[in-house]
Amino acid sequence: MYAKRRGTYLRGMSFALLGWISLLLLPHSAVAQTPPGDEPGSQKIYRTEFGPNKSIFRPSRDPSRTANGLALTPPMGWNSWNKFGCKIDEQAVRNVTDAMVSSGMRDAGYEYVIIDDCWQSGRDADGNIVADPVKFPSGIKALADYIHARGLKFGIYSDAGTKTCGRRPGSLGHEYQDALTYARWGADYLKYDWCFTGTRDSEEAYTTMADALRATGRDIVFSICNWGVNRPTMTDKSMPWEWGEKVGNLWRATEDIYDTWAGRKGTSLGVVNILDLTEPLYAYAGPGHWNDPDMLEIGNGGMTDDEYRSQFSLWATIAAPLLAGNDVAAMDAKTKEILLNREIIAVDQDRLGVAGHRVRDNGDLEVWARPLANGDRAVVLFNRSDKPADITADWIDLGYPAALSLSVRDLWAHKSLGRATGHFSAKVPSHGVVMVRLAL
Ligand code: GLA
Repeated sequence: MYAKRRGTYLRGMSFALLGWISLLLLPHSAVAQTPPGDEPGSQKIYRTEFGPNKSIFRPSRDPSRTANGLALTPPMGWNSWNKFGCKIDEQAVRNVTDAMVSSGMRDAGYEYVIIDDCWQSGRDADGNIVADPVKFPSGIKALADYIHARGLKFGIYSDAGTKTCGRRPGSLGHEYQDALTYARWGADYLKYDWCFTGTRDSEEAYTTMADALRATGRDIVFSICNWGVNRPTMTDKSMPWEWGEKVGNLWRATEDIYDTWAGRKGTSLGVVNILDLTEPLYAYAGPGHWNDPDMLEIGNGGMTDDEYRSQFSLWATIAAPLLAGNDVAAMDAKTKEILLNREIIAVDQDRLGVAGHRVRDNGDLEVWARPLANGDRAVVLFNRSDKPADITADWIDLGYPAALSLSVRDLWAHKSLGRATGHFSAKVPSHGVVMVRLAL
């Protein structure tokens, strides 16, 4: 049975302190928090401080290194892997691209169309990477042009090792050559995986590709996909959030997601397992560098609509990239309604760029919150239990004085619920959420 990691009351208290002071300072200054530190012989204490949260990152090996300036809000788009796996071809990508436009996803902010693994077939005599001529007969450049012509951006995938996870050629030893190829094709995004890397050091490997991308002169968002795991079988033990801030724009916090609520299948994890591994990293996220709890499974059929609503709400609360992973060309009305919830997308894309976290943990009943640029709070009442339950968000846990009257807007019902003082309560479905936005 899956057991979740428990938060502490102190975390709620620190969020309260953060909120009290940010009420005075926002929207003019960003709020940042240091990560948890183990205090001797006691519970974890969560400290709060102001200003850029640089101190939590390990100093770069190259002190003159700068961030690439991209992805100031979490990237949004679509990726082929969760639905299509290796069975991806240019027709499927074109169909999804067309549907991104006709469904309104593009206009709601979904920007990148990303081909994941298995588009490659080999290298030519000069070492240039070659696309599979059967699956991509028109070539990658033509596909990128098709995507760009529809007002979207194009993303591609490779790996820091000798082979990709799907055993196609990796970029090891070809970093600058591949980066140039992607730039010539018009790539705007690279997801860079971590299979077949042997004894390679991940910071070195990702920095090399980041430099190669930078050298092309093209703006290319860099997605670090080394899973953030400390696998006993891997020689490299580094955690990408420690060094990733100026190397890439997002880093996977865990191994792969699969389309289930909770559990483990091989190295893949369910939604709540991934959520609980990513949540403690919230202080590492910020404009240009995001924790990546892997892609959305919404619409892939393995979970209920309530569970999919939970994934969408909580991903937005922790400022995760929103990369749809379904067949956008064949989605039903419910899936569309979830992915196109603009009020929740606005939370995800909030320009303050502070990731939310769990502020109250009453067993299976939780409260999560995220401070927003205009001083509002996005709040999620989250019910992990297998029956409906009443959940209360206390202002004090959210950083508001208990006596304050706040307006409450339900982000799934799309309606205002009037004003509340001290707390807000709602009945929450099993494995579901109620998500609200609180404003002065
Ligand atoms: C790894 C990544 C996945 C996907 C596959 C492709 O497992 O973590 O997201 O890219 O490889 O083979």
